[in-house]
Amino acid sequence: MAKLSLILCFIFITFSVLNLCNAKKKVGIYELKNGDLSINVTNYGATILSVLVPDKQGNVADVVLGFENFGDYLHDDVYFGAIAGRVANRVGGAKFTLDGKTYKLFANDGKNTLHGGHRGFSDVIWTVSEYVKDGSLPHIVLNYNSFDGEEGFPGDLNVSVTYALTDKDKLSVTMKAKALNKPTPVNLAQHTYWNLNGHNSGDILSHEIQIFASNITPVDANLIPTGKLTPVKGTPYDFLEPQTVGSRINELKSGYDINYALDEPSDKIKKVVVVHDSKSGRTMELWANKPGVQFYSGNMLKAEKGKDGAVYGPHDGLALETQGFPDSVNHPNFPSQIVTPEKPYEHFMLYRFSTS
Ligand SMILES: *[C@@H]1O[C@H](CO)[C@@H](O)[C@H](O)[C@H]1NC(C)=O
Ligand SMILES: *[C@@H]1O[C@H](CO)[C@@H](O)[C@H](O)[C@H]1NC(C)=O
Repeated sequence: MAKLSLILCFIFITFSVLNLCNAKKKVGIYELKNGDLSINVTNYGATILSVLVPDKQGNVADVVLGFENFGDYLHDDVYFGAIAGRVANRVGGAKFTLDGKTYKLFANDGKNTLHGGHRGFSDVIWTVSEYVKDGSLPHIVLNYNSFDGEEGFPGDLNVSVTYALTDKDKLSVTMKAKALNKPTPVNLAQHTYWNLNGHNSGDILSHEIQIFASNITPVDANLIPTGKLTPVKGTPYDFLEPQTVGSRINELKSGYDINYALDEPSDKIKKVVVVHDSKSGRTMELWANKPGVQFYSGNMLKAEKGKDGAVYGPHDGLALETQGFPDSVNHPNFPSQIVTPEKPYEHFMLYRFSTS
């Protein structure tokens, strides 16, 4: 109870401060429940705060990383649970050219733009347009209207994210965006960090992971794609067969932070990843309709003040962000991320939980 009132207190402070900027927008926590599966979401950054899932004994635990204090979501650089956009991942040189015009973006990652810039979609207040807590289809719809020129991007863009517990073992995320007047790049990503043994159970190095991708898009020293696709075969990036995250991580500089080019066609809904934790018996399948998935092994987590007094360090959670290939705007050989008024954006993700 003490924790809840602390959270509410932080929300109240946040709410009061943000209220000065926009009297109509309130920050709240919204719970969705379907059987033993339940999640909490906030409209700040359309962020997933918690996901409770049973283990093989039926004991429920929170399997996503998050902050103890709500206020920490306002200035975090780890993007716990948030929706990253307008263009998730990196845009090299913080600029791109579209229809002969060069657009300069806010550079917030050295010379590059990361996750939409200084104040991306992960740091704005979304409007809750539908909310059904339980029953046959618990869901919440969040909307954000991004304006022409926001963080340097062209055109007005209406965005919606729907979280739904479509079954007692399924969480779906549907991200849609509609360009109202100009073509613009759009790449939204759900940035939850998972630890299937429980968010406060240490590192994820013994999680087994399988990624249905034979190639990655390698990056330079600033994590910008070179534009090539290279095979995973014979490298520590090969997860075509299930392997533990830790099996070959020491062969890499700081761990995994790379986009996989999925083998199945781009726009088809396909199985992307399977993660299994043998300690809890929890398995998570991720399905999606995008060409890539960023596998990030939480390399840069550093004494983050987590929920229930947990302190998260490197590799205490992993993120699996389905997406368009990073920096697509600067690589004509990558699948296009350009959205036009005639061709809206739709990104569907489905997480399926089971135990064994
Ligand atoms: C989710 O939110 C509800 C309502 O605010 C709260 O009672 C519950 O403790 C929260 N659950 C978690 C795991 O934080
Ligand atoms: C964009 O969003 C606003 C506010 O939610 C809504 O009134 C408007 O109809 C939307 N426009 C389109 C073209 O969807």
